[in-house]
Amino acid sequence: MKILITGSSGFIGFSVAKKLLNQGHLVHGFDSMNNYYDVNLKKNRKKILDKYKNFSFSKGKVENNKSLSKSILKFKPDFIIHLAAQAGVRYSIEKPRIYLHSNIIGTYNVIELAKRVKVKHLLIASSSSVYGANKNLPFKEKDKTETQLSIYASTKKSTESIAHSYSNIWKLPITMLRFFTVYGPWGRPDMALFKFTKAILKNKKIDVFNKGKMYRDFTYIDDVVKSTELLINKIPKLNSKKKYKYDSISKVAPFRIVNIGNQSKIYLIDFIKTLEKELKIKPNKNLMPLQKGDVKLTLSSTNLLKQITGYKPKIKYKVGIKRFVKWYRSYYNV
Ligand SMILES: NC(=O)c1ccc[n+]([C@@H]2O[C@H](COP(=O)([O-])OP(=O)(O)OC[C@H]3O[C@@H](n4cnc5c(N)ncnc54)[C@H](O)[C@@H]3O)[C@@H](O)[C@H]2O)c1
Repeated sequence: MKILITGSSGFIGFSVAKKLLNQGHLVHGFDSMNNYYDVNLKKNRKKILDKYKNFSFSKGKVENNKSLSKSILKFKPDFIIHLAAQAGVRYSIEKPRIYLHSNIIGTYNVIELAKRVKVKHLLIASSSSVYGANKNLPFKEKDKTETQLSIYASTKKSTESIAHSYSNIWKLPITMLRFFTVYGPWGRPDMALFKFTKAILKNKKIDVFNKGKMYRDFTYIDDVVKSTELLINKIPKLNSKKKYKYDSISKVAPFRIVNIGNQSKIYLIDFIKTLEKELKIKPNKNLMPLQKGDVKLTLSSTNLLKQITGYKPKIKYKVGIKRFVKWYRSYYNV
C-alpha cells in the first residue's frame, strides 16, 4: 500500500509509520517539525524512519496548500492518515489562532487533496475532547457532541463536520479516529505522564489538577497503532450489508467515527501512585484546581472498534507506565 501520513514526526504518526514500514508498505511522511515541544525528539523519531528504504518525507505545513499538494500529487497515495495537528488543550487557550489554521484549514486541505487523488480511504485524527461536557459514560460514537470545552476540541469537532460533508458530496470514504489520552514510549512532552516523570526525576513538584479527582481513559500507543492499522482496510461503505451497532453516524455518506480508547477508568491519583512505584521516588504534589477548558472524565466505549476490527485495546496502565519509564530512562540516560 502507498500511505501518506501527516504528522509523521509526531508521537502517534511516528509510531504508526514505523509499524507500516516494518510491514513493507510505502510510506510518505509530511510534517512541519514545529517547535511546540522539543524538536530534537521529533528529529530523532524521523531519523529512525529515515533508515527505511520505503520511507520518504517532505517538510511543510498542512495549511500551506501549495506544499501539501506538491507532496500528495507527487506521491499519489492509496491511503492517507492525517494526524498532523496543533494538539494540546491548554495551549489552545493561549494561541487559538494556530489551532484554526493547522487543524481546520490544514484538515480541509488534506480532505480536498484526498478527493483529488481519489484515495481509497482517508483516516483523520479526532479526539475524545469532542465529547466535552457529556455526562453519559462510557462515551459512544453515536452520542451527541455539542458541548466542546476548548478551542482544541472545537477545531476537532469542526473537522468531523467538514469531513462528513465532503464524504457525503464526493462519496469519499473517511474514518475519524477519536483518540483517548494516548501515552507510551516516544510520547509527548506536554502530556501528564511525560511531565510528571521529568519533574519527579528532578525532584520538582508536579501540578495535579482538580486535586487528582479526575479520571482518564489512558490508551497505550501500541493499542492505538494496532487499531489504526486494522482500520485502514476497513473502508466505510454506503449501504454496506454489514451493520455495526453504533455505526449509525451517517446514513448518507461513507463516513464513520471510531473511538480508540482502552475502555477503562484510571484515576489520576492511581496513575501517579503507579509512576511513583516505578520511579521509586515520592512526588511532591501541587494540588491545583481544574484547568480551564479541561474535562474531568473521559471513558470510551470501544464496542464499535471491536466489532469492526475484532480488536480491543488491552494494555493495562501499570504495564504501559513501566514501559514508558524504561524508555524514558534509556532515552534521556537517567
Ligand atoms: N496523543 C493524544 O493523546 C491524542 C489524543 C487525542 C487526539 N490526538 C490527535 O492525534 C494526532 C497526533 O497527535 P500526537 O500526540 O502524535 O501529537 P504530536 O504533536 O506529537 O504530533 C503532531 C505532529 O504534527 C506536526 N504538525 C503540527 N502542526 C502541523 C501543521 N500545521 N502542519 C504540518 N505538521 C504539523 C507536528 O510537528 C508533530 O510532529 C493529532 O491530530 C492530535 O490532535 C492525540
